[in-house]
Amino acid sequence: MGTAHANFTVNGRLHRLCVDPGEILLDTLRHRLGLTDVKWGCREGACGACTVLIDGRATPSCLRLTATLSGAHILTAGGLIAEPLAQDIAAALENKHAFQCGFCAPGILVELFALFSRAPQPSADQLEQALSGHVCRCGGYPLMMEALLKLNAP
Ligand code: FES
Ligand code: FES
Repeated sequence: MGTAHANFTVNGRLHRLCVDPGEILLDTLRHRLGLTDVKWGCREGACGACTVLIDGRATPSCLRLTATLSGAHILTAGGLIAEPLAQDIAAALENKHAFQCGFCAPGILVELFALFSRAPQPSADQLEQALSGHVCRCGGYPLMMEALLKLNAP
């Protein structure tokens, strides 16, 4: 099948990789780079667990081929947590005990970081839309909304 080259940054570190053309970014991040904060769920773009920022856009990493990402800047939840905005979002969710098992948390944090970065005071509709791409099997949505609307309050 051959190999392809991909050079990109992940959490600020440059990586030069030789990959199978069919390798998905989720596998690259978890298996090659050891970034287990990127969660492995449905592998078909439906659960949001594997969401990362690619050039500022929240994207399920299972839907992107690593070989197509040369030049990209990728951030995972673990890389984002140094950002004050990510810390504020995480603290608001933690204070409400919005997560139980926490499996969905990294993908949701990435999604919310992208939302609050472009809309510092998102509406309930915008928050619901952002969360709609993420499956939380523990049913934490009402507490998440409560926490995020409070974060939104002036
Ligand atoms: S594992 Fe990527 S969206 Fe579910
Ligand atoms: S807290 Fe368990 S899946 Fe969301």
